[in-house]
Amino acid sequence: MLSSEPTLAVFASGRGSNFEALVLAARRGEFPGRIVALLSDQPGSPAVERARTLGIEAVCPPCGPFRTRLEDEGSWIEALRARGVEAVLLAGFMRRLHQPLLDAFRDRILNLHPSLLPAFPGLDAIRRAWEHGVRVTGCTVHLVDDQLDHGPILAQSVVDVHDEDTLETLEARIHEVEHRLYPRAVRRFCTEPWRREGRRLVFPGAREGAARG
Ligand code: GAR
Repeated sequence: MLSSEPTLAVFASGRGSNFEALVLAARRGEFPGRIVALLSDQPGSPAVERARTLGIEAVCPPCGPFRTRLEDEGSWIEALRARGVEAVLLAGFMRRLHQPLLDAFRDRILNLHPSLLPAFPGLDAIRRAWEHGVRVTGCTVHLVDDQLDHGPILAQSVVDVHDEDTLETLEARIHEVEHRLYPRAVRRFCTEPWRREGRRLVFPGAREGAARG
């Protein structure tokens, strides 16, 4: 278990709307703990700008030459340890994490993905689901492991696709749902004991149905 008031960091690469939703939810007391830093691979991103506006420290450790991974995760780990971070929330962080970070924060890195995993992992999930013609889609919060959008699932929310939807209206509805789901999932992760049974995360104290987002 995490401490009762865990120190948290968010990783984001882009718009940062989920980062902001998490910060505001923490400030409203919707989950225990404090978001002490935003770590970003994109110093010029709106997420970094939002951190400044919100009064959260923004840190941009070196990334190296690759586009989809961090060359040296050591400096990212150091930045987290220096701030006493206990768990990491990925919110639109567009690089894969590898063993150094996964080992340093084993079972303490969550990711948000805009589909009902295991459907549509990877990039452009909302557009691919839309083009596939799905009638329901949604979003997923899961533990991060060494495969893409793959770790054990903590929470999911379903979003219906309406006949009159455009890709843009569907995206907007999924983002709205994400902003509610992620804080609820973090609350559960921080406050309820859990164990793994195979791929399943089991919350022994949970009421029936409480695992839905
Ligand atoms: C969110 O929709 C999140 O689910 C997605 O990036 C968006 C970030 O939006 N993440 C992924 O696709 C990760 N595979 P935001 O920057 O406004 O929070």
